[in-house]
Amino acid sequence: MTNTISGAVVGSRSLGRHGRMSEIEAAQFRDAERLFPGGVLGGNALPNDVRFVVSHGRGPRFWDTSGNEYIDYVLGSGALVLGHAHPAIQQAVAEQAGQGTHFFAYLNARAVDLARKVTPYIRCAERIRFTTSGSESTFHAIRLARAFSGKTRLLKFEGAYHGNHDYAQHSTSPKVVAEFPIPVPDTAGIPPLVTDLTLVAPFNDVDALERIVAEHAHELAAVIIEPIQRILSPKPGFLKNVREITARHGVLLILDEVVTGFRYGLGGAQAYFDIKPDLATYGKILGGGLPVGAVAGRADILDQADPGQKGQSAYVYQNGTLQGNPLGCAAALATIAVLEEPGFYDRLFAIADDLRAGLKEVFDRHKMGVTVFGDGPMWHFLFANRVPENYRDILASDMKKLVRFDVELIRQGIFVLPANRRFVSSTHTKDDLSETFEAFDRACLAFKA
Ligand SMILES: Cc1ncc(COP(=O)(O)O)c(C=O)c1O
Repeated sequence: MTNTISGAVVGSRSLGRHGRMSEIEAAQFRDAERLFPGGVLGGNALPNDVRFVVSHGRGPRFWDTSGNEYIDYVLGSGALVLGHAHPAIQQAVAEQAGQGTHFFAYLNARAVDLARKVTPYIRCAERIRFTTSGSESTFHAIRLARAFSGKTRLLKFEGAYHGNHDYAQHSTSPKVVAEFPIPVPDTAGIPPLVTDLTLVAPFNDVDALERIVAEHAHELAAVIIEPIQRILSPKPGFLKNVREITARHGVLLILDEVVTGFRYGLGGAQAYFDIKPDLATYGKILGGGLPVGAVAGRADILDQADPGQKGQSAYVYQNGTLQGNPLGCAAALATIAVLEEPGFYDRLFAIADDLRAGLKEVFDRHKMGVTVFGDGPMWHFLFANRVPENYRDILASDMKKLVRFDVELIRQGIFVLPANRRFVSSTHTKDDLSETFEAFDRACLAFKA
């Protein structure tokens, strides 16, 4: 193989690796193993025979440095609702790069433009602060809530993910669950004092929430919730109940819209489910693939971060070198301009509907014992006979089988994060879906064999 695109060898058009590996990619794996813990960039590693080094992406596809092609349903962990290398984002970033990439967290024109653009779409946004990731957004929202309420405990839901910091890393995916509301730390290195400040409730269970909040309201700063928790849709009325219970007990509600924000419509989950939290957190789609996040919400809570109050005990420190970064804000503005095009969300939702329908047909034909589900532009399937309502339903499904099937999918050129939720982008076409169904068909055959 001799043709190269930015270091990648261009080879067969058939999806997936199928044993093809270039010298370039083999050397990249060797160096990655030597230089990175576990040979990877973060918390996810793939089995050796399906791992890849990405060379480049375009629309719904990417290529590894051996030239193998994949259809992408991970999409930068859900950030790339417009697919890879969208022309409008390329142009906006290139134009901004020519005018300066970074001015620290002082006012710059693109950041003001972005705040003007997004706040009318976010119901709770009397004020907004940009951050550079979803984790920073939830971290600062929790700090703001603790300062505002004068209380220290935080309630989260079992199975929810709110980022990589100590406040958030409890009971996200415990293999052995604890009795509610006892938290299970997700990582070594969290001080037990922080764990003690966390309470855990089951998702979709109003009575359990009412009980825990009523008992702990005097020490509970906030409830933080993913409106669609990973792959779990809220039962009808559940989110309104959460809002009502928190308000009645004087507990702040943080809606973590890092995934749902700008995915379920320009108004995100707040409009989709008709609720108004005290604070909401953003990341992913907002930055269009560049590092932009945000905390939005009530003015009286966010104004604690007014530097004019420095030196006073009520002042909340909220800062970051790259926040409000103009390159990220330019990408965000370009993304939102596309999302605002008439019919954008109808098309996005229709792609996911078609995908779910086609996958159900393939799985049923192969009698795989799989349930396909998902709300709007997120989709999933489990080896289970019903749609899960909470984390323990997911645990009760055959997760080992799911991981093995997902690895087979990657082998067939369909990139999913094993056992994790998956997305669609606006660039997935009917042809991409047809190729996806063919790959699922091959995966079912291989799996049964
Ligand atoms: C709901 C939710 N909140 C917060 C985060 C953390 O965002 P980031 O990875 O940008 O720090 C994530 C990341 O997947 C998320 O899904």
